Amino acid sequence: MTVERIKPDDFTKTPAAPAPRPNFGSAMIPKERYTSADYLRLEWERMWTKVWLLGCRLHDIPEPGDYHVTTIGKEEILLVRQKDGGVAGFYNVCLHRGNRIMAGSGHAETFKCQYHFWEYGLNGDFVNIPDLESFPQGAPPCKGLRAVKVDTWNSFVWFSLNPEAEPLRDYLDPMPEHLDPYHFDRMVKVMDVTAEWDCNWKTSVDAFNEAYHVQGIHPELLYFIDDRDVQIDLYGRHNRYLVPFATISERVTETTEIPHLIKHVMKEAGMDPARFDGRVTEVRKATTSCTITTTTTSSPTSR
Ligand code: FES
Ligand SMILES: [Fe+2]
Repeated sequence: MTVERIKPDDFTKTPAAPAPRPNFGSAMIPKERYTSADYLRLEWERMWTKVWLLGCRLHDIPEPGDYHVTTIGKEEILLVRQKDGGVAGFYNVCLHRGNRIMAGSGHAETFKCQYHFWEYGLNGDFVNIPDLESFPQGAPPCKGLRAVKVDTWNSFVWFSLNPEAEPLRDYLDPMPEHLDPYHFDRMVKVMDVTAEWDCNWKTSVDAFNEAYHVQGIHPELLYFIDDRDVQIDLYGRHNRYLVPFATISERVTETTEIPHLIKHVMKEAGMDPARFDGRVTEVRKATTSCTITTTTTSSPTSR
């Protein structure tokens, strides 16, 4: 693989200033938000079918005809690279009897439903309806597959089931300013793992919005991050949290030996751990004052 070096001037920074704290109060969160079927239905009606959703990466469908089927709730969406290089998205549902058209990822010249061979082009238009003359009512009164809104940002393909969805960039604001500096477009996916949890979706999201569980679930990270000094910022419908890496938690006793994960960061920053004569708690400041040259294959750095 070619490693493209990023020029230092190219490297903008994620804003690190804390956002103003909204006052949400401190009342208990009603358990029904996690257990009620009615609440789930409202989430589908008012959120999942209204927002922009991540579909895949542009790298997943590089050539015209490359496709990827993604799911949201009970819906499946067929994302397709177009001949002009753009990406289109369609409900993965045949206009004839509602059969599923494609599965997984791959490449196709046309999309042919395997039930009765109705065939659609990459742009979703009908290409062939076998025995059309035998249908007295003719073809369905539309051009072909039902399209959904699709847009791209920073190498990611997004879609929305909401025909009235605002432009993607407006929806994402202010996160592009925070995430563009990572240059995801220069990163390649080396692993794709799906883990299905038998839980309400918010239970899983909650786990990624706090560092409180580090002491229980990832005790080894107490020698790599400061789990007590986490800055959580809320921006309306988006949020982020900043976790200081390359340091240790105040829950553990400082050692004279530099923990191995911190040594790894030092090497990435061009430092030689063997020649560092400061304390472990001073490493972080030392690494952030180094000039870091990052590459296409590097992981996102911390603040
Ligand atoms: S359901 Fe697709 S061709 Fe009949
Ligand atoms: Fe975790």
